[in-house]
Amino acid sequence: MRIGILNSGGDCPGLNAVIHGVVGAASKLGWEVVGFRDGFEGLLPDGEHVLLNPADTVGIMKLGGTILGTTNKTAFATKVGTSNLKEVAGRVIEMTKQTLASLRVEALIVVGGDGSLGTALHLFRAGVPVIGVPKTIDNDLQATAMTFGFDSAVSCVVDALDRLHTTAVSHKRVMVVEVMGRSAGWIALWGGIAGGANVILIPEIEFSLEKVAECVLEREKNGNHSTMIVVAEGCKMPDGEQVTREDGGYGPRFGGIGEVLAKRIGDMTGKEMRACTLGHLQRGGEPTSLDRILGARFGVKAVELVREENFGRMVSYQAYHVDSVPIEAAVHKLRSVDAEGEVVKTARAVGISLGD
Ligand code: F6P
Repeated sequence: MRIGILNSGGDCPGLNAVIHGVVGAASKLGWEVVGFRDGFEGLLPDGEHVLLNPADTVGIMKLGGTILGTTNKTAFATKVGTSNLKEVAGRVIEMTKQTLASLRVEALIVVGGDGSLGTALHLFRAGVPVIGVPKTIDNDLQATAMTFGFDSAVSCVVDALDRLHTTAVSHKRVMVVEVMGRSAGWIALWGGIAGGANVILIPEIEFSLEKVAECVLEREKNGNHSTMIVVAEGCKMPDGEQVTREDGGYGPRFGGIGEVLAKRIGDMTGKEMRACTLGHLQRGGEPTSLDRILGARFGVKAVELVREENFGRMVSYQAYHVDSVPIEAAVHKLRSVDAEGEVVKTARAVGISLGD
C-alpha cells in the first residue's frame, strides 16, 4: 500500500510532527508514504513529490515549518491560472486523480485549515479516498477542541508580552500588541491571559474605544502607568474605521489594527503609546512539546483511519474544557498511563521502544 500526504495553507509548528507520525505508523504497516511538495501544487503534472522513509523523518519533530513546503489558496490559484474557486476545485479533483493513479497512491492525507479541508471534502465527494488532519495556529477550526500550532503561537505571544511588559513599565507606556487570529480570538485570549495583558480585544466581543481608554486612565489613576493591550488582528474598529490590507486579505503585512488602535487610544488618553505586531513570529520556530505530541498523534491517527478505510473523516482532538467533579472522584486512586492507549501507540508508531 502507498499513501500520500500534503500540507496546505499557512505553515504551522507541528506539521513535521504529523509527517513523522504518518511515516512511522505507515512503515509499521509496511506501507510507503509519498510526500507531495508545496501543498496541492505537488499534485500538478509538473509538481514535485518525494518518497518518505522513516530515516528521512528522524529529528524533524522539533523543526518548525514543514519539510514538504506548503502554499496557500491564492498562490495555488495563480499557479493554475484561475481565481474562479469552482474551476480551481475542478482542476484539483482532475489532477489529484491522475497523479495518485500514476504514482499508485491509494489514499491521501491532507493536513490543512478550513480552506484546505474544504478542498479535501471536494476530493472525497469526487471519489478520492481522503483523510483530513486539522491545522491552524489560530485554533479556530470546528469539530476539534484544539489544533497543533496553537500552543506554540500562544507561547510566542507570552514570551513577547513578558519582554514588552518590562520596557512598557520602564517608560510608563501603553503597548498595543497585535497578534494573529483573523476570525477568532483564541491566540489573543490565551496569550493575553497567560502573558498578563490588561486588556484583550477579540473579534467575538465588540469593544468600545471609550472603555479601553477608560481602563488605561483608571490604571493611571491607581498608579499603574503602563498598560498592555492585546488585540487580535481580526478585530474591527468599533467606529467602522476600515483597517484591512490593501489587497483585501488578512494578516500582518502592512500594519493593521494594532497601529490604528495605538494612535486612537493615545489621542484619547494622552499616554505615550507603542504598537507591536508579532506577525509571523507566531508561526515560525520550533513547536512546543504539546504541539509535537499532538502533531504526532494526529499523524498516527490519520494512518489508522486509512487502514480502517474510514475515508472522508478528519482527525479530531476532543474534550477540552474546565468542568467540575466530586472530590471523591479524584482521591484514593492515581491515574495511570493507559498502556494500550492512543498516546503509547503513538510513541511506538514513531519508533520509540517502551522496553517491552
Ligand atoms: O494561519 C492563519 C494565519 O496565521 C492568520 O492568523 C493570518 O492572518 C494569516 O495566517 C497570515 O498568513 P499569510 O501571511 O501566510 O498569508
